Formats: sequence, C-alpha cells, structure tokens
Amino acid sequence: MKIAVYGASGFTGGLVVAELRRRSVPAVLVGRDEERLRKRAAEYGAADVRVAGLDDPERLAAAFRGCDAVVNCAGPFSTRGEPVVRAAVAAGCQYVDTAGEQRYIKHILDSYADSSVTIVPAMADDGGPGDLIAALTAARLGDGPLDELLIADLRLPGAASRGTARSMAEVGVRSPLEYADGAWRPAEVAAGRAVLAVPGERAEVEVSAFALPGVVMAPRHLRVRRVRSAIRAEVSDLFTGLTADVVESIPEVPEEEARSTARWLMMAEATDITGNRARGWVTGTDGYRLTAVIAVEGARRLVMDGGPAGARTPAQVFDPADFLDFLTSFGVTWSVERV
Ligand SMILES: NC(=O)c1ccc[n+]([C@@H]2O[C@H](COP(=O)([O-])OP(=O)(O)OC[C@H]3O[C@@H](n4cnc5c(N)ncnc54)[C@H](OP(=O)(O)O)[C@@H]3O)[C@@H](O)[C@H]2O)c1
Repeated sequence: MKIAVYGASGFTGGLVVAELRRRSVPAVLVGRDEERLRKRAAEYGAADVRVAGLDDPERLAAAFRGCDAVVNCAGPFSTRGEPVVRAAVAAGCQYVDTAGEQRYIKHILDSYADSSVTIVPAMADDGGPGDLIAALTAARLGDGPLDELLIADLRLPGAASRGTARSMAEVGVRSPLEYADGAWRPAEVAAGRAVLAVPGERAEVEVSAFALPGVVMAPRHLRVRRVRSAIRAEVSDLFTGLTADVVESIPEVPEEEARSTARWLMMAEATDITGNRARGWVTGTDGYRLTAVIAVEGARRLVMDGGPAGARTPAQVFDPADFLDFLTSFGVTWSVERV
C-alpha cells in the first residue's frame, strides 16, 4: 500500500505523514513547494517527494500514479480542493480529505457521485465523527423516517491553526445551509440563537447555526425532513469575525499544550415523526492529531476493503460503530441513548 499526501508540507499534512509512518504505510509527499516538502520528508525519513502545483492537472495526476489513495490536506478547499479530486480520479486513486468547508463538501458530493473511485471528503474531527454519530443516533430510533436532526459541534474556542482560520474565514462569509423537505437552503440564522444542553457541562450553552459539514452529508443516508446545525455562539463569533489580518497573525502550528488538551465534541439529536428522541455524542482531545488518524484510517480502509464508487459521506462508506470504536484507542469516547 502506498498513500500520497497532498499538502504534506502543511501542519495537518505533517501529522498525516507522521501517522502513516507510525502505521508503517509508505507515504508519497506531494505539493507545490519542493523545499518545504523535502524538509518534511527529512523529518520523517520519507524518500518519495513529488512536486506538482494545482495549475498543472497532468503533472498532478502523474504525481499520484502508483499510489493507492490520496489524502488531501491542502486547504482552503473551497478554492484549492477540486483539482486534487480530479487528479486522484484521473490516477485511479481512492480519495479522502480533511475539509470542513460545507459548500465545498456539498459540491464534491454532488459533482462526483458517479466517479470511478471512492471519494470521501470531510475525514476530519468534525465531518467524520459528526456524520458517523448522526447515523448511529438515527439508527437508535429504528428504521423509520426522522422529523428532525440537529448536528452540533460543541468544541470550545482555541487551538485552531492558521490553515483552519483561513478556511473558516471563507466559510464564515457565506451563509450556512440547512436541509428541509428535500432541499438545502440558507439556514434561519436570523431567527436567533438557542440554548443547548451539552454532555458533561452543567449550564446550557448558547449556540447558533453554522456551516457544518454534517448538514450536507446526513440527508444523503437518512430519511429526514429537516437537518439543522449548531455551534457554540462564542466559536461562531470568532470564526465569522475573522479578517485577513487576524488570520495571518494566527500561528501556523498551534501550541502543543493547547492542542493536546483542546476537547472537541460532536453531538447529534434525532427526533422521529412520532416524537421519539435520541441523542449521540462523540468526543476526544487533540483534534488535529485525531484528524490525521481519521484521514489515514479512512484511506487505509478504502484501499484494504474497497468502497462504493463515487463521492460518498463517511457513514455511507464506513461502518459507523466500527470506525468510532477504532478511534477509542486514541482517547475518543462515544455514546448513543434514547432521551
Ligand atoms: N475540519 C477539521 O476538523 C479540520 C482539521 C484539520 C485540518 N483541517 C483543514 O485542513 C486544511 C489544512 O490545514 P493546516 O492547518 O494544515 O494548513 P496549513 O498548515 O496552512 O497547510 C496548508 C497546505 O496546503 C498547501 N497549499 C495551500 N495553498 C496551496 C496552493 N495554492 N497550491 C498547492 N498547495 C497549497 C500548503 O502548501 P505550501 O507549504 O506550499 O504553502 C500546505 O501544504 C485546512 O483547510 C483546515 O481547515 C480541517
């Protein structure tokens, strides 16, 4: 097995290369800047470096040839993601990425549904666990249709990389989507903020709608009338208030201590058409390290087990409970209950 990492020179790309090395999977480091790639390769004792920019589709596909899968870590994905998807398809490689940008994820799922390889965007600490816990929470209510699903990202502020801030600055300026009656539409953000009970916290937390990946993924595998999003209001304020100057002042790599202790938590609340309710949550620390673990395990499973051709959500491709159980050895815990 050989896995290409596009954007291997970046923060997340480096963690993915480290995780591949930990798992003894040969990595091919791909990107636009040879010097930065060689530095990264030297750090991890990787030998295979291939230089290809996003503006040269043939060179990009040639860089991926001979690899079984591509892990794309070069964001912001809204403006940089698609050439890598196209090149992975041209090279016949399975594809995962670490995108958190809602509209990009929707575009890839809509546009590459019939492609010849498996394409799974959003294999990061929000989209991956968020989609998997949504599937498990819905299943707790049986096979019937759902009236409503709420997907909530309840991480506390802090420990974001400059790359994340850059991507979120793009997300923040666009209106979040919600799903209702068979179509996606702008979320009712103007309707105001709400409060939500968060597992492990005494006081209810103020939340608002946000452009979360799960909203554009869950309706593809669940029968549900409406899907909404929620994020802590303080985190939403931070992301939507980002200016270019602020983004560029954020460190490229978050401080180790802040990163390793930062807790993330994805929650899903499902209500079926008779009013029965279930709640599921999945939580852990060090979301960036976990993102690398999730992306590498996703790519590895696609290569070892195969996957359905076309662009699919994590829950359409991977067994949700089995995948989350795999993450428990990295300190992740998860639970689903009737409420
Ligand atoms: N959703 C989540 O939970 C989650 C978690 C982790 C990461 N992410 C996402 O992953 C992405 C990377 O984050 P990061 O912190 O690793 O960012 P980063 O350190 O800035 O790395 C960005 C990478 O993309 C490459 N790149 C940027 N623009 C490019 C272009 N025009 N052509 C070719 N390569 C280009 C960079 O290459 P150079 O070195 O040549 O500049 C670098 O390798 C972001 O979109 C972030 O939001 C999401």
